[in-house]
Order: sequence, then C-alpha cells, then structure tokens
Amino acid sequence: MLAVDKCLKVNNDVVYDVTCPSLTTTEGRAAERGRDPPEDRIDHTRSAMTETPSGANPHLPWLDDAVPAEASRIPSMLYPEEKQYLYWTTRHAYEGWGAIVDLGPWVGASSALLAAGLRDRGMSARVQSFDRFVWVRSYMEEKLPEDLPEGGDFLPVFERETAPFAPWIDAERMDLLEAEWNGGEIEILFVDAAKSWELLNAIHRAFGPHLRAGRSRVIHQDFRHFYTIWIPLAIDSRPDVWQQIEAVDDGDSVTFVPQRPLFGEGGLPDTYRQTDFSFSLADEIFRRRLERERTSENKVRLLLGWLRTALLYDQPERVADLRERLAKDPRNIENLTTAEMFSAWDHWHRGDVSRASAIASECLKRTPDDTQALCMSGLCARDRGDHAQAVTYFRRVTSHNPNDASVRICLADSCYQLGDFSAAGEELIAIFRNLSEDSPDQWVQFAFEQLERLWAADTTWPLSSLDDLQARFESSPHLHVFEAIVHYHRGHTEQATNELVRALELAPGHARAEQLLAKLRNGSWQ
Ligand SMILES: C[S@@+](CC[C@H](N)C(=O)[O-])C[C@H]1O[C@@H](n2cnc3c(N)ncnc32)[C@H](O)[C@@H]1O
Repeated sequence: MLAVDKCLKVNNDVVYDVTCPSLTTTEGRAAERGRDPPEDRIDHTRSAMTETPSGANPHLPWLDDAVPAEASRIPSMLYPEEKQYLYWTTRHAYEGWGAIVDLGPWVGASSALLAAGLRDRGMSARVQSFDRFVWVRSYMEEKLPEDLPEGGDFLPVFERETAPFAPWIDAERMDLLEAEWNGGEIEILFVDAAKSWELLNAIHRAFGPHLRAGRSRVIHQDFRHFYTIWIPLAIDSRPDVWQQIEAVDDGDSVTFVPQRPLFGEGGLPDTYRQTDFSFSLADEIFRRRLERERTSENKVRLLLGWLRTALLYDQPERVADLRERLAKDPRNIENLTTAEMFSAWDHWHRGDVSRASAIASECLKRTPDDTQALCMSGLCARDRGDHAQAVTYFRRVTSHNPNDASVRICLADSCYQLGDFSAAGEELIAIFRNLSEDSPDQWVQFAFEQLERLWAADTTWPLSSLDDLQARFESSPHLHVFEAIVHYHRGHTEQATNELVRALELAPGHARAEQLLAKLRNGSWQ
C-alpha cells in the first residue's frame, strides 16, 4: 500500500511523494507488509545511495576503481563518472543471472566499459548492444570526425573501437522503435536511446517484461538531461514501480530497480504521452527531484530540464523564476540558451511562431551571437513575412558561420522574396561553393530549386558564375533538371528531354523530372 496521506495532490493528479520514507527502502516497504526484506532483492540499505548515519555524503564505490584505458579512450558522450559507474556495475554489482543490454552504444564506449568489468572479473558473459548504427553528422561528426556521410553505417566504427572487447560484446543493428527482445531475463539495462516519448515507450514495451522485480538495474543515462524530460516524468511519477538505487554525483545517469512487473495490474500504461502529464504534475515532479539532488552540477541539470518543461507548457511565471535562478551563475548561460532553444524549436515545429520567436529574443538578450537563436529569429521573421528582418538575422549567422549552406539557403530565399535578385544570386554562388554531391540531398535540391526560381525571374542572371556546376554535380539529378529547364527556355527541346531522362536514370521516380518530362512530351510545358 502506498502511504497515500504522504502523497501530494495537485489538481486531480496524484503526485506520489518520492521522498516518502516508506517508499524509499526495501525495509520500509517490507515493514508495511509486516515481514523482513525479501532476500532475493537488491539490498538498498547497503546500496551506494544510502546516506551515512551522520547525513554525510554517501561513499560512491565506483569512484574507487580506475577505468581501464582501452575502454575509457573510446570516443563517448558519457561523463567521466558515468564511465566509472558503468565499469563498476559489471566489475562488482553484476550477479550473472541475467543479460546485460546496452541500448544506444554509439561507437561502443558504454559497451566496452560494461565488457571491461566482465573481462576483469574473468567472466565470459556478453553485453548485448543494440543501435541503429546510422550516422547523424550534426551531433556525431564533431565528437568523432570519421567524415561519414549523413545516414552512413557506423557499425564498422563500433567494431573497430570495441575490438579489444569483442569476446564480451554482441552488437546488433536494431531500430529500437521496433525493438524486440527474446534473450531472457535482463539484469542490467543501460538506456542511452530513449530520445523521445516513442522510444521510451518502445523500450519499456520490448525490454520491460524481461526485468526481474527487485533485482534488475535500469540505468537511464539521460535521466537528468534537459532534453529528455519524459524520463523523469515517467519514472518519478511512479515511485511504486521505480526505486532509485544509484546515481552519479556528476552526470545524467540515475539507476532504478523495478519493484514489480512493469505491465499487468498496477503496472505502467502501454504508452506515455506528454498530455498524460499536466503542468502541475510535471512541475511537482521536478521540484521534488531537485530537492533530492545533492551536487550543484546535478541541480543545474535538473533546473534546465524543469525550465524546458515550463517553456513547453508555456508557464511564464515558472519560466521567469527558473531563468533567474539559472542565470545567477554565468557558467550556466550557455547551457541555459541551449536548453531554451531546444524548446523554441519544438514550438516552431508545431507552428507556434510567436512562442518560438519570444524564446529566441530572450536568448539573444543574454547571448547576442547565439547561432541557434539568430536562425530561429530569422525563420520566425520570414514566417511572419518580414523578409527584411529575416535577412538581418540570417546575415548575422553567415557572418559567424560563412560555410553554413542551410542558413544561406534561407538568406537567398528572403533576398529573393524582397526582389533583391542580385543579393540572392550572390548567396547562391556562395551556397554552391560550399555544397558538394555528398551534401544532404535536400540542401542540394533546395539550392537548385532556388537557382531555377532566380533564373526564371531574371533570365539575364549570369549562369556563367556557376560554370563549374556541371562538373561538380554531374551525378546529381537536381543539376540535370535545372539544365533541362535552361535548355527548354533556349528552345533546345531535345537536350531538355535528354537531361530529364538522365535525371530519372540517376534518381528513378524523381517527381519534378517526371512531371517536366510528361509536360514536355505532351506539349504542355509553357
Ligand atoms: C547519445 S548517443 C549514445 C552515446 C553512447 N552511449 C556513448 O557511450 O557515448 C545515442 C545513440 O542512440 C542511437 N539511437 C537513436 N535512435 C535510435 C533508434 N531508434 N534505434 C536504435 N538506436 C538509436 C544513436 O544511433 C546513438 O548511437
């Protein structure tokens, strides 16, 4: 039974008291049932998170072990203490009755750290590592400059990096949105891939039924990260299911043990959505979680997540309060802007231009050169039809990042909308200088579409300024579509047809090429 009187009621949402003593230890729960703590459970009374009687900071045993260099050298997005913690879980805490599963290992650091613990204990168990292994340049390339194309397969990089630990790792390509698990009970589940509500739900559904109540460790690497607010919301709203047993002092990882089977009577819902959580409930969860944090680093992490939540729910008073608390320390400013801008993008993607724009303006007051805030302000100005303002913002970005083709594409578009074809043309020349056939196809397509539009508006525009395009984009269908248009307008129908056929050879089904070819063949192309 939950101690309901200790639970807080906010509106109609019950917020379970996460600090309620009867819920925080195995002993407390057992005492409620009038018996001793069951022996088949992790003894939380001796867990690393138990405060010493004097209330002094607990001793965190993972800080005692040095992480083997072969594992710690692998490029990673983990904090140093998280590396120590992962190594410790298999080196000391693993009992050997269930599988060790690593979700989202990227190029393998987490898998290698878990494997190193097994190796150093002389165990032959293996870590089961699942990832899409699809390269996303925006956040992977800067951590590890492999120069892989967008969408490239990085399983070979994982295999190269984890080679010394190959006998302890099985890696498998899996889209976790479609995850399935048939490897039996799971003792350690490391989750660094719950990057959306959908992924968290899919992970719960596929792996949750294989957790053993009272025994399995679920390590949520993103628990304190400001982006993944769904994790603290889902976990801390159910202290009857999830009991925290360990947490690093400096990092995002927090570990939980399920206290009952995840599904079935009294278990989790099949699906979580943001709308399941009122702002009052979310607010209370963050407030209580913050009270629980011991270190200033982790408090800041939680405050950022709380702020992002308040922005998403559009709660101006809480937003102002959290901004003020965070901005007191100048070291937080950069992260504050980053967290705010993630929320601005969320609003923008939902079509809420005014909220997105308000957040970006607030960020620019603190960090006037922030690229994200400048881009967002430019996009919002453009969406409002204020192209002159948009040009100002986009130019500020390109003055800092001259090679950013995506912003120049927006800039060229706004110049065109203002009727300034000469400025739009200059931007296009700069864009093409920075694009190649390996650039994201969508950018290449946008650039050629803008060139087509510009040329249609002003057929005297000097295409000779782009005379190296043919050589550089020979295998891009978008070049051939553009060439077809130029040929057609010059009266060269046969060459136009040939170019469209070539575009379709390169990209069968290319919609624009098919459409123009059909028009050309039935004589309806004006
Ligand atoms: C932040 S990185 C993980 C970092 C890593 N654990 C480390 O130690 O550095 C997130 C990982 O989740 C993976 N991922 C994201 N969405 C996924 C999906 N739908 N299915 C499988 N893996 C996914 C990414 O490919 C990436 O490797």
